[in-house]
Amino acid sequence: MDSGRAFYAGLLEALTNVMGSAKGYLRDHGPMVAMLSSHLGREMGLSRAECSGLFFGAILSDMGMVGLAEDAWENPTPQLAPDVRQRVELHPQRSEERVQGVPHLQDLAPLLRHHHEWWDGGGYPDGLRAREIPLGARILRLADTVAALGQQRPHRGPLGPQEVSEVVQRGLGKEFAPDVGECFLALQRAGSIPRFDWESYRHTVLRAAESLLPEEVSPLSTSQLLTIIANLIDAKDPYTAGHSRRVAVLAVAVAEQLDLDAHTRSVLWAGGYLHDLGKLAVPLRVLAKSGRLTDEEFAFIRAHPSDGAEILEGIPTLQHLTTGVRYHHERWDGSGYPEGLSGDRIPLVAQIMAVCDAYDAMTSTRAYRHSRDPQVARDEVSNQRGRHFGPEAAEAFLQVPEKIFDTLQAQHQEAEAARDVPPRVQTLRNIDPSVLGPAPQGATQAQPVEAR
Ligand SMILES: [Fe+2]
Ligand SMILES: [Fe+2]
Ligand SMILES: [Fe+2]
Repeated sequence: MDSGRAFYAGLLEALTNVMGSAKGYLRDHGPMVAMLSSHLGREMGLSRAECSGLFFGAILSDMGMVGLAEDAWENPTPQLAPDVRQRVELHPQRSEERVQGVPHLQDLAPLLRHHHEWWDGGGYPDGLRAREIPLGARILRLADTVAALGQQRPHRGPLGPQEVSEVVQRGLGKEFAPDVGECFLALQRAGSIPRFDWESYRHTVLRAAESLLPEEVSPLSTSQLLTIIANLIDAKDPYTAGHSRRVAVLAVAVAEQLDLDAHTRSVLWAGGYLHDLGKLAVPLRVLAKSGRLTDEEFAFIRAHPSDGAEILEGIPTLQHLTTGVRYHHERWDGSGYPEGLSGDRIPLVAQIMAVCDAYDAMTSTRAYRHSRDPQVARDEVSNQRGRHFGPEAAEAFLQVPEKIFDTLQAQHQEAEAARDVPPRVQTLRNIDPSVLGPAPQGATQAQPVEAR
């Protein structure tokens, strides 16, 4: 299995990128908060390690929103409805719980828990006040609001520097800690707040990862981080608890049948966990829809393999995972997406992922239909050899020992029983798609049955 510091740092970078894309139109909000927070931290005398913590804390502070309240991201309004607000206010604790599972980042837990506390005690979740709030969390509070004010929202335009400093001034001693607010205002007066750019952001991710990670990162830590990312991906879609891990397990089992080498197996393992990375960018209203999708909605679904692949492509230590992710929805007969490749032009790792992915989808309940019996699903794989699925991959899949299917099926049933389709799905309103940016190209092909 892939492991080591560089691979782990790459996974952390993927996680930070995907947290950006999860917010749709808020795409660069987290990265902006991260850059501003670590800058403020340096100015206020924090150590390099503390600034690195602040940097990751900023990007991961809203991890808890996924699977809980993305409808607040998708329907940004000046005043949230009371039921939505209630869910939003739970996100700091959810973020805290998630980061406690990420090896080497556990120390960030208090920062994440307290990033919505206000200096005057009016914040959440604990109503801490003044210096009870950790300095890092006070910095995150200000950076979060300042970055949001500078960005476009559906209900208002971006605020200029003068207006931003007026808001900060007014909020001193209320939302904002006076020391953090004064530091920000002084930097702003001096014109020394750096403009955000992706190049220095990427550079900072790597430096921050280096300062937080030990020289040796164990394979166990790597697999734990993969699990956390996969859980986040699966949490986005209310119908896919445990899906990514099952695809990874099945794909490696198929690789064993085909006697593939250790490198390919590790590509299938990590790639299985990450194959739906791009789903974090698909709006919840699309993932949770039970009826037929419009072209505009289906365009988001069609984009998820390439969105995920693009994130991985930008990270040198994860580039080898790109192919499987990009082509896991291609079909042997050429009717898949995103490129409509056919036959042997589809890389074998992608053919393997495709069959495992489709099997798991068939045996799961989805927003748009009930699950099928595992035997029926395997018969379907057999029928679709040489049509939907590559013959070699499908053949090997059908040879996977029964006991592996049985174990997965048992875990799957457990996951489905524990699954709660949260109220966010019911309360989700339709939003103006234009706030989410342009739909991807090539959106109008017919919609295959297991396409989602
Ligand atoms: Fe937050
Ligand atoms: Fe997928
Ligand atoms: Fe999938």
